[in-house]
Amino acid sequence: MKVTVVGAGNVGASCAEYIAIKSIASEVVLLDIKEGFAEGKALDLMQTATTLGFNSRIIGVTNDYAATAASDVVVITSGVPRKPGMTREELIGINAGIVQSVAESILKHSPKAIIVVVSNPMDTMTYLALKATGLPKNQIIGMGGALDSSRFKTYLSLALDKPANDIQGMVIGGHGDTTMIPLTRLASYNGTPVSQHLSSEALDKVAAATMVGGATLTKLLGTSAWYAPGASVSYLVDSIVNDLNRMIPCSVFLDGEYGQKDICIGVPCIIGKNGLESIIDVKLNDQEKEKFTQSAAAVRNMNEALKEIL
Ligand code: LAC
Repeated sequence: MKVTVVGAGNVGASCAEYIAIKSIASEVVLLDIKEGFAEGKALDLMQTATTLGFNSRIIGVTNDYAATAASDVVVITSGVPRKPGMTREELIGINAGIVQSVAESILKHSPKAIIVVVSNPMDTMTYLALKATGLPKNQIIGMGGALDSSRFKTYLSLALDKPANDIQGMVIGGHGDTTMIPLTRLASYNGTPVSQHLSSEALDKVAAATMVGGATLTKLLGTSAWYAPGASVSYLVDSIVNDLNRMIPCSVFLDGEYGQKDICIGVPCIIGKNGLESIIDVKLNDQEKEKFTQSAAAVRNMNEALKEIL
């Protein structure tokens, strides 16, 4: 299996690292526009193979899309990350053109690849990749929900003071500070509702911390996070490459599901060898439905900015 990661910055390099360390793919191509940068990161990562015990080959290239040919999965992390105080939405002016040209270059060399979009604003960039390539909706997946759900479960485990892997939960909706919808009502601690263990005030705090999870890190780090984003992408890639059919909330094109059309936004998806295998129709209550409608309206508003490009 061959996985290409476009963009060898913090998120792209972390993603390549986890894919290699977990032996998710035998070949990883890391591509960047900065001369020699991806080559350097790839070589540095390769030099961890014998000490960490993996055999994946990591190849770095400068803007050479021919080297990415016939990839099974391509991850797009290109563009600029946010700085403290910025919203993801403010990145659209710079990132849209970059994501569009990257998607078109990928299409030329790997028309069958499943494309995973990480660049922000993620839901709008996923929609852009879909429209720019004209690929079927199963081939384009935005990763936000995977990351937001891992943050949600982390904050729940801290509030409960229980192991993170005993916690289950999902975040749907847009990948934005105000558009995320942590599904606290459905979250569980080993199959028992979290509401049985935490007060509604504590659950509200967890939901609020989840929604600004990325912004909190941007403030602390001076740039956006990379360990959790990289790991979430590798989790998603694993489900595609190894046809695991995991249920992961991802930003995918909706055609009537959850009452929405012509938009990419986070919903629970089954992810396997064809990328998006199906969308799971989770029964939302009226309050959650209302939040989803508002979230979709905000994402759709952001998509309007693409009209000048598409
Ligand atoms: C974050 C960026 C990757 O949430 O969107 O950290």
